[in-house]
Amino acid sequence: MKGVYLLAVLSLWLPSVQSQSPTPITDPASFVLPFIGTTNGGHVFPGATLPHGMVKVGMDTDSPGNQAGYDANATFKATGFSQLHDTGTGGGISLSNFKIWAFPNCTFGFQGCQTSVESRKVLRKVLPDGSPDDFASPGYFSSNLSNGIRVELTSTRRTAIHRYTFSPGTAEPRMLVDITNDGSQTSTFPVMTLNTTTARVMGGSEFASSFGPQRYTAFTCVDFAGQGFELGSPTEFGTWLGDGTVQGQTDLNQQYFGFVSEMGALFTFNPAPKGKPTVILARAGVSFISSEQACANAEEEIPDFDFDSVQTENRAAWNELLGRVQVDTTNVSTETIQLMYSGLYRSHISPADYTGENPRWNSTEPYYDSYYCNWDTFRTLYSLIALHDPERFALIVRAMIDIQRHEGWLPECRGATNQQFIQGGSNGDPILGEFFVKFSEQAASLNVSADDLYTALLADAELQPPNWNLQGRQANAWKEFNYIPQDMFDAGGANTKQVSRTLEHAFGDFAISQVAKILGKTDDAAKYAQRAGNSFNLWNPNVSVPGTPSVAGMMQPRFKNGTFNFTDPRHCSIHDPLMATCFLNAVDRDGFYEASPIVYSQFVPHDTARLLKLQGGNSSFINRLDFIFEQGYFAIDDEPSFQIPFMYHYANAPGKSTQRTRITVAENFNTSVGGLPGNDGNSGAMASYTSFALAGLYPVPATRQILLSSPYFPSISFFNPLYNSTTTIKANGFEGNPADGVGGKVFVEGVTVNGKPYKSNCYLDWDVFVNGSLVELTLTTNPNVTCGSGPDALPPSLSTGGFS
Ligand SMILES: *[C@@H]1O[C@H](CO)[C@@H](O)[C@H](O)[C@H]1NC(C)=O
Ligand SMILES: *[C@@H]1O[C@H](CO)[C@@H](O)[C@H](O)[C@H]1NC(C)=O
Ligand SMILES: *[C@@H]1O[C@H](CO)[C@@H](O)[C@H](O)[C@H]1NC(C)=O
Ligand SMILES: *[C@@H]1O[C@H](CO)[C@@H](O)[C@H](O)[C@H]1NC(C)=O
Ligand SMILES: *[C@@H]1O[C@H](CO)[C@@H](O)[C@H](O)[C@H]1NC(C)=O
Ligand SMILES: *[C@@H]1O[C@H](CO)[C@@H](O)[C@H](O)[C@H]1NC(C)=O
Ligand SMILES: *[C@@H]1O[C@H](CO)[C@@H](O)[C@H](O)[C@H]1NC(C)=O
Ligand SMILES: *[C@@H]1O[C@H](CO)[C@@H](O)[C@H](O)[C@H]1NC(C)=O
Ligand SMILES: *[C@@H]1O[C@H](CO)[C@@H](O)[C@H](O)[C@H]1NC(C)=O
Ligand SMILES: *[C@@H]1O[C@H](CO)[C@@H](O)[C@H](O)[C@H]1NC(C)=O
Ligand SMILES: *[C@@H]1O[C@H](CO)[C@@H](O)[C@H](O)[C@H]1NC(C)=O
Ligand SMILES: *[C@@H]1O[C@H](CO)[C@@H](O)[C@H](O)[C@H]1NC(C)=O
Repeated sequence: MKGVYLLAVLSLWLPSVQSQSPTPITDPASFVLPFIGTTNGGHVFPGATLPHGMVKVGMDTDSPGNQAGYDANATFKATGFSQLHDTGTGGGISLSNFKIWAFPNCTFGFQGCQTSVESRKVLRKVLPDGSPDDFASPGYFSSNLSNGIRVELTSTRRTAIHRYTFSPGTAEPRMLVDITNDGSQTSTFPVMTLNTTTARVMGGSEFASSFGPQRYTAFTCVDFAGQGFELGSPTEFGTWLGDGTVQGQTDLNQQYFGFVSEMGALFTFNPAPKGKPTVILARAGVSFISSEQACANAEEEIPDFDFDSVQTENRAAWNELLGRVQVDTTNVSTETIQLMYSGLYRSHISPADYTGENPRWNSTEPYYDSYYCNWDTFRTLYSLIALHDPERFALIVRAMIDIQRHEGWLPECRGATNQQFIQGGSNGDPILGEFFVKFSEQAASLNVSADDLYTALLADAELQPPNWNLQGRQANAWKEFNYIPQDMFDAGGANTKQVSRTLEHAFGDFAISQVAKILGKTDDAAKYAQRAGNSFNLWNPNVSVPGTPSVAGMMQPRFKNGTFNFTDPRHCSIHDPLMATCFLNAVDRDGFYEASPIVYSQFVPHDTARLLKLQGGNSSFINRLDFIFEQGYFAIDDEPSFQIPFMYHYANAPGKSTQRTRITVAENFNTSVGGLPGNDGNSGAMASYTSFALAGLYPVPATRQILLSSPYFPSISFFNPLYNSTTTIKANGFEGNPADGVGGKVFVEGVTVNGKPYKSNCYLDWDVFVNGSLVELTLTTNPNVTCGSGPDALPPSLSTGGFS
């Protein structure tokens, strides 16, 4: 999604953090700024979650476009504190279920409490700089509301704990549980009971998926406790519907069949004894199975309502994970360190660990949900996770395989236990490929079945699903034509984005060929490598950018009979005469998804060398890339552009990649609340892109190669717990990062690994990371560096010898 963004200076020449020797960062969570990207369309979730936790408890505001519940703009009011969220997504507002709310008083007593979202919502307190009085750090969120209530949130995997501190003198503290108000107000068939003695609320409802046709059911179990005093039984209790309360009523059962968005439980409690603050804890277990299971989750995970120890353990989990990546901060601005760790942090929010909460089948395998969507994340997210969290990667891969085993199709955009709409291609393949190409030797010990992984890949590659809007590829067309024809109106899905799908299916088939090669399936390896070449079936050499004949040759839609249709190369770009956006829409007939033909014409990651040839050789290719940047076709706010800054590597001009990447970061990413160019492309596409850029790396998924530039740090190291090894990339002679991204001593002119000259200045083999190595970069201020002169200096491509 293309949002408004701020341009800001990223780094300063003058260091704001100085140290003599790289002492390990023991509290990396302190560098994480969860509010980055929480306004102006970033859709980032700033609340509390464990790494990949199911519960993501956070504030919801009445802002438009609050896909993750929250908006950092203080003009918006808080409406509740709900237990489940996604992060960085588009689509409708997802989840945001089971809001909890505290009333300091209700003017006309229990019966007069204004319980609906519209009536109860309040502004936050506002700080002198105009921002709301909210705070967030990994595993913790707090806010001071204008009604005098302070709210704090933290969580375990399936349970949230909230702490509400009332103003001194509050006579009638009241707590509300909202069963029905999800983010998009889609509830049907709500059920709820409350216990008049314990004030336990059990309930659930059906809700709409945010990006798909199916509905899902979620349940909660909420209990209350006093902190520092005995809360006792509620003095008043009842249900509420809209702005009406029914004192004494203890359940809502099945009588509400229509859409019911405003319903729940309300309690009045005694305040704390005189002299003590009234602090009420609310523990909310969540489940997709039953409210009984939600209670069991809560009792197991937070038995004693100990908010502080839950928070401490949550933060410790983040520190252990984030601390696997260490940077030397000498001569590096604090903002750069914050961007690095914030990017890593946001790379571990989703997919989320819903193990034990899959309502659709019973399995002993892990269950991860909220892949929203693989189209966003396959490019960079999993390659970042591979570097420092392969065990988690294995769990996610096992879950993906189990989903395919039971439903027939890999997840693509799955959310809230449902299949959701496929964006471009079907991009589980490069994710499974990325795992297997890097960890095939460890797969068995990680309980990843190679056979089942391969079966899942073949199902995607070969089988036509009944609904290829939700489940996979238009496989019959793909197999018959070796591209997705624009005029193939077979049943099962919308005839859109055929060019995007073709290019992504080709990359998916490349990933399959890589896996087949490792499994010794030579015929399959050849077959899928051949199909990986299908990208070029859409190359029309006769189409050029209007007014710029030198930018010639374009990926274009093609008919069944082999002739090409024409889509203006500028389509969906800022120069599109039609100003189209190319968002998901069944009536779009242009062939492209969320990026222009000019951008898509660069997407053949597995054979950039052949693309470069088609685009006229090194200098013509460089000119074309320059044109893409200088004319504003490059759009980092959407994922298809991600690889473009690094593509100069293939033309032996890695210094230009370094410059383009650094300019991209300087112009688009900062630590402000508006500091993301687009939405975070599910849970971490932008985040992982940023962390890679700052590490001086860019991945080629499903290969053992990673493109190399210079890091923003004198050194950066990745600890890989699976290998028990640490690889350090050291930028010898590092002098700091130029503020505008241009110039400086940042260009790589030489690389050694463990003291020995390396074959290339442009990429590293995965073996470097397996064994734990010291990679030393020689830097220069001269951008005219090369990949080196040896036979393996250029990064690999299928047409130039393939991938080792
Ligand atoms: C906050 O939102 C208001 C209302 O939509 C808008 O007018 C204002 O520009 C926003 N402020 C910022 C800093 O984005
Ligand atoms: C309720 O609380 C608000 C905020 O503390 C206060 O302004 C208001 O006067 C209170 N009303 C009553 C009836 O106590
Ligand atoms: C809220 O108020 C408390 C004092 O009651 C203060 O400690 C805290 O920093 C404030 N801000 C947030 C976001 O919690
Ligand atoms: C309410 O909870 C108490 C304590 O657990 C239990 O004994 C009682 O049976 C519950 N009441 C109802 C109506 O379920
Ligand atoms: C899973 O197993 C439980 C316990 O045997 C059973 O109640 C439930 O219906 C099963 N769920 C599915 C989706 O099969
Ligand atoms: C793999 O499965 C075995 C047998 O169920 C189990 O003992 C082991 O802990 C599992 N290992 C991992 C990494 O999940
Ligand atoms: C491109 O133009 C040449 C020369 O007119 C023609 O021979 C060729 O068939 C055209 N190719 C396509 C794909 O239209
Ligand atoms: C090819 O198919 C397209 C779309 O169906 C049609 O418009 C065009 O006339 C056909 N061209 C030839 C040469 O058959
Ligand atoms: C050919 O492309 C144009 C422009 O995008 C589109 O309107 C038309 O529907 C396409 N033709 C077919 C048969 O898809
Ligand atoms: C991991 O490596 C360190 C040395 O780098 C060693 O001390 C430790 O014993 C190793 N741990 C395991 C489990 O092999
Ligand atoms: C920081 O960089 C400057 C050059 O920009 C250099 O003179 C200085 O020695 C560096 N400081 C440290 C601590 O390395
Ligand atoms: C880099 O190369 C270009 C063209 O070959 C040349 O114009 C430029 O002066 C060189 N720059 C440096 C710093 O060597």
